[in-house]
Amino acid sequence: MASCDVASSCRMNEEFAVPKDVEEVRTAMANFAERHVAAGRRVVLITSGGTKVPLESRTVRFLDNFSSGRRGASSAEYFLAKGYAVIFLHRHRSLCPYTRLYTGVNLLDCLTLNTIQEGTELVTVDQRKLPNITNILKRYQEVQTVGLLLPVEFSTLSEYLHLLKAAAQALSPIGSKAMFYLAAAVSDFYIPASEMPEHKIQSSNGPLQISMKMVPKILKPLVKDWAPKAFVISFKLETDPSILLERAYCALDTYKHQAVVANVLDTRHGYVVIVTKDFQKELVLTDKEAERGVEIEDKIVKNLSNAHSHFINQ
Ligand code: PMT
Repeated sequence: MASCDVASSCRMNEEFAVPKDVEEVRTAMANFAERHVAAGRRVVLITSGGTKVPLESRTVRFLDNFSSGRRGASSAEYFLAKGYAVIFLHRHRSLCPYTRLYTGVNLLDCLTLNTIQEGTELVTVDQRKLPNITNILKRYQEVQTVGLLLPVEFSTLSEYLHLLKAAAQALSPIGSKAMFYLAAAVSDFYIPASEMPEHKIQSSNGPLQISMKMVPKILKPLVKDWAPKAFVISFKLETDPSILLERAYCALDTYKHQAVVANVLDTRHGYVVIVTKDFQKELVLTDKEAERGVEIEDKIVKNLSNAHSHFINQ
């Protein structure tokens, strides 16, 4: 794991290309947060999906981090149901709130074209092919009408790092009303722009050997400098269950934030552990709950929003 200090975060602009629209996005996030806090809401910034690390500047190949975006997208829905306003910082084309429920459905198979009279056609939806669509659509439209969801996209690691920094600075003025829920799967390795080949790497040159640098852990300046009063939750993903809790406590100790949600790749939809300095709570989804369509994110969000209330009241 890379360690990070403030100096390394200052080098961010040199080593990671700044996205063109970062200032506009920062302003949009700051306005969003201010408006919702004035209306009595809390704001959660959710990161979701995996980052992409290019191997060439005119990118043909890249290194990706695994994440479907399901955790982030479903959590966003539960936070919205709890009255939060949500900034959804997600990987381009990963799962999004509400529409995630219909991935794999071919929209055109759900539609029928009816001719009412000559020249007038009406498209109708077969609701049996889109389970629960009426409720989901109502909920989605309520969220849209009040403007409770601000989607922001990233693809590359550079975009992720700069947009997360911008988000932290934009949410800093709302203090403890802000929650950071960092569910994205972020690369620990990258190739600095100065060391990256411009053109496609040629296979005719033989086997590829690449050397990658450690990515600064952005959590440290986020907690310490950019949004010091916010309620910050990181995620810890491991494939070896035997080291999970130790790694989660290590993260809590290193970054001094409020909670770590620890999960193992293969069991992440049915079991997580929330680790804070005061308690360790296992959340389990039973088979019966899973059959009823309960999701573990509902439990995670309930726990963390209660902990957030406690944090604000303190
Ligand atoms: O999207 P799904 O398919 O539903 O899967 C969900 C998930 C498994 C991706 C999610 O639950 C999860 O565990 N996300 C975190 C994965 C991860 O990158 O863990 P990590 O140990 O590498 O990083 C720990 C924390 O530090 C994360 O909160 C990450 O956002 C943050 N980080 C990581 C690298 C970096 N340079 N800076 C960071 O701040």
